[in-house]
Amino acid sequence: MTEPDPDPDPDQDAVPQRAVRALAVSDQIDQRIYSASVRQRMADVEIVFSCGDLPARYLEFLADALDKPVYYVLGNHAEELTRQGEQGQRYLPAGCTDLGGKVLRDPATGLILAGIPGSPKYCEDEPEQYSEWQIFAMMIDMAPRLLWNRWRHGRALDVLITHSPPRDVGDRPDKPHRGFLALRRFLRWFRPRYQLHGHVHLYDRSQSHVRRFAATEVVNVYPYQVVDLERLAPPVPEVGAAAPAPLAAPLATPRAAELGREPPAW
Ligand SMILES: [Fe+2]
Repeated sequence: MTEPDPDPDPDQDAVPQRAVRALAVSDQIDQRIYSASVRQRMADVEIVFSCGDLPARYLEFLADALDKPVYYVLGNHAEELTRQGEQGQRYLPAGCTDLGGKVLRDPATGLILAGIPGSPKYCEDEPEQYSEWQIFAMMIDMAPRLLWNRWRHGRALDVLITHSPPRDVGDRPDKPHRGFLALRRFLRWFRPRYQLHGHVHLYDRSQSHVRRFAATEVVNVYPYQVVDLERLAPPVPEVGAAAPAPLAAPLATPRAAELGREPPAW
């Protein structure tokens, strides 16, 4: 499997010109995915994202079964780390890439990815909990790479992977499931085309799992979603050619027509 490139070659085509089919998973093992038939049923998936709180064995299974890059962030329970390795030491899922606090470009698809792990602080027992300021500090650490991408490639990133949602965008009122205010700032500043998150369990399938905030389609992937990441930027016009018409807003999933109303600015 090709390693992700933190410093993309500027001569490479950095703008994917076609839809990329992604499998996104979070929070719960789904037997429709954790099955020997997934290779056939998901043969057109090009990249896998985990939005947290899934055990390493599930992520490693997906990496093996689909033979595609798997990127993940840790959830508040850090299930990814719970499997004990030799001498009881914890270790990360093999063959998968931890996106937490990083900005990377996937070499196979050209997608620029970033990740923010964890949930808001709500107890003393869970390992991956953050204050607003800690998330903001993580964001500031990522900013130079994001700004470089915007200058070099015309966009800071394509897909933001998080465990928690932004505040008031598909979150819940209880403390553990309250969204991060800092993520609203991230979306306003860096304008990814998509944010994929987990943490908020949607049991009522009539509830919308896609919302819009600023320029971003925010998708709750619990327990899994197949997301067609539409063409991410218009092609560079040929010299002398008329400027291309702006792209119609693509839908991340068939249910994107249920996009929620944008909440007030932070
Ligand atoms: Fe969670």
